[in-house]
Amino acid sequence: MSRSRLEQLISGSRLEQLKPPTLVALPEKTKALLVRCMRVGLILCLIASIALGLCSAFSSQSHWFPLLDRNRTRSATSIFSTTGVDSEPPTNISHILFSIGSSVNTWRDRSRYAEAWWDRNTTRGYVWLDAKPENLTNVSAYYIPYRVSGNWTRFKYSHSQSAVRIARVVVDSFNLRLPNVRWFVMGDDDTVFFPHNLVSVLSRYDHNRMYYIGGNSESVEQDVMHAYDMAFGGGGFAISYPLAARLAELMDGCLERYYNMYGSDQRVWACVSETGVSLTQLGGFHQFDIRGDPYGVLAAHPLAPLLSLHHIDALAPIFPNQTHLDSIKSLVHAYRVDPPRILQQSVCYDRRRKWTVSISWGYTLQLYPTMVSALDLRRPLQTFKTWRSWADGPFTFNTRPVSSNPCERPITYFLEHVKDGKSGNTLTTYKRFGHKERECNRTDYHHAMAMQRIVVLSRKMDPQYWTKELAPRRQCSEIKNRASLRGGTMMIKIRRCRPSESITI
Ligand SMILES: *[C@@H]1O[C@H](CO)[C@@H](O)[C@H](O)[C@H]1NC(C)=O
Ligand SMILES: *[C@@H]1O[C@H](CO)[C@@H](O)[C@H](O)[C@H]1NC(C)=O
Ligand SMILES: *[C@@H]1O[C@H](CO)[C@@H](O)[C@H](O)[C@H]1NC(C)=O
Ligand SMILES: *[C@@H]1O[C@H](CO)[C@@H](O)[C@H](O)[C@H]1NC(C)=O
Ligand SMILES: *[C@@H]1O[C@H](CO)[C@@H](O)[C@H](O)[C@H]1NC(C)=O
Ligand SMILES: *[C@@H]1O[C@H](CO)[C@@H](O)[C@H](O)[C@H]1NC(C)=O
Ligand SMILES: *[C@@H]1O[C@H](CO)[C@@H](O)[C@H](O)[C@H]1NC(C)=O
Ligand SMILES: *[C@@H]1O[C@H](CO)[C@@H](O)[C@H](O)[C@H]1NC(C)=O
Repeated sequence: MSRSRLEQLISGSRLEQLKPPTLVALPEKTKALLVRCMRVGLILCLIASIALGLCSAFSSQSHWFPLLDRNRTRSATSIFSTTGVDSEPPTNISHILFSIGSSVNTWRDRSRYAEAWWDRNTTRGYVWLDAKPENLTNVSAYYIPYRVSGNWTRFKYSHSQSAVRIARVVVDSFNLRLPNVRWFVMGDDDTVFFPHNLVSVLSRYDHNRMYYIGGNSESVEQDVMHAYDMAFGGGGFAISYPLAARLAELMDGCLERYYNMYGSDQRVWACVSETGVSLTQLGGFHQFDIRGDPYGVLAAHPLAPLLSLHHIDALAPIFPNQTHLDSIKSLVHAYRVDPPRILQQSVCYDRRRKWTVSISWGYTLQLYPTMVSALDLRRPLQTFKTWRSWADGPFTFNTRPVSSNPCERPITYFLEHVKDGKSGNTLTTYKRFGHKERECNRTDYHHAMAMQRIVVLSRKMDPQYWTKELAPRRQCSEIKNRASLRGGTMMIKIRRCRPSESITI
């Protein structure tokens, strides 16, 4: 283990800088008392630093500066978790209680989405219904345990009574008093969660403190109408145990006070704000308040782990040739092979051919027969409209327009196969997708379109990457078979960027 910076500072360079001028001053005979004092002080200093140096040389662990003697991983997490965490095991999936707000009518159909991500061996939680389901004949609808909400009809409301019920789910879940719950995660019945990544980000935070963690809407009009600093319920949000405990005390009063609010998530937000806690916003929650095709966002995901997707049925299926449900299953399948990497973007160039490739791992790949900057590729193609007014914006992020000229659009590929290779490697294959009559007829496009498949190799990411990494960096990639693309297949390797590497045209 290397010595801490402070030790080096004291026992090394700093002392050497201090020594010469003071030693030179010693022989001077005047002001004897003062010099003597200084000398005694200096000798004490020297003894202390020699002892310190010996101590750190002979013991692998310093007892002088225990706080500084941690490796990078520990100190990274302890920035977030300052109390109690050292004595407690890290947060894992068993510490999260999922609560899905649903109703007998919608659950029959939407349970299929929840079942695509719910792992019956590890996921804890319930779907909350408005009544006992008399006739859920589908076996699948019993896959996730259900609870019936209680005591919600006594509250007044001005819009929807079910919003009152769903707002109370956080309290109902808390009141189950289940053991070892650190986080209550709320979602709608059409929310798809990515639990591994949720665990990764939640374990950054101290569950013994009050946290309200989620994301807002993509459509500015929605944030203006509701609130920018509100966790939108469809994207899902997490509430730490102590905050849930406070809400359990406050919620019934809040429901009376905010009876004229619109949604359940707004009521929770209002009640949380009475505790003085504010939203911790994370980029991986997707309320998906957009219309049309979410492709652009998923192909240029922010540098954050994918945590949730919502409004699946309201949007085009994310894989063009699959149903809504099969699309989700395909994405979840890739996610399970390398959870932290799902949708992570990487860009590389073939300088000789002047081609650009943008990868969104586990989902899609774009090939441009031109050189496009990473800065542009990071901005989602606007394949969608706003939620309420079906307008071209504004959104809470920048977008690029989709050109009507096919010669200005990328050639797109979609995930075909995922292979979980040996010793932590993965291999994903992406197949070209497009309509003949909507393709660019230029020769440079024809050369590029001859690539029917693109194979991507990568090492699995550290499962705890999103817990440890406070300064994440996009990974680099390179084309492996640049010389011979004749087979109609391109091979790309994703890897960590070298420190000096840049993604420059
Ligand atoms: C970091 O610290 C943890 C526990 O404090 C220890 O298990 C791990 O081996 C350390 N890693 C390195 C690289 O020193
Ligand atoms: C989660 O952590 C607890 C300790 O708090 C441990 O008992 C349990 O086995 C862990 N579960 C998983 C799935 O890792
Ligand atoms: C759950 O665990 C059992 C036995 O441990 C295993 O056979 C099964 O495949 C697991 N199911 C899932 C969905 O992981
Ligand atoms: C239960 O569902 C089946 C099939 O949808 C239907 O035929 C039957 O009438 C239902 N029973 C009740 C009591 O609603
Ligand atoms: C059972 O689920 C399927 C879809 O998985 C759905 O088409 C069918 O209507 C459901 N049947 C009942 C009785 O709910
Ligand atoms: C409903 O509220 C009453 C009184 O507040 C309480 O005694 C009862 O246990 C509650 N029922 C449920 C199902 O929460
Ligand atoms: C779409 O799916 C159908 C049936 O699964 C298949 O025959 C067809 O080739 C697919 N189209 C494309 C462009 O992949
Ligand atoms: C490209 O050529 C094909 C056949 O020659 C034609 O059907 C198609 O419309 C052309 N596409 C464009 C965008 O001009």
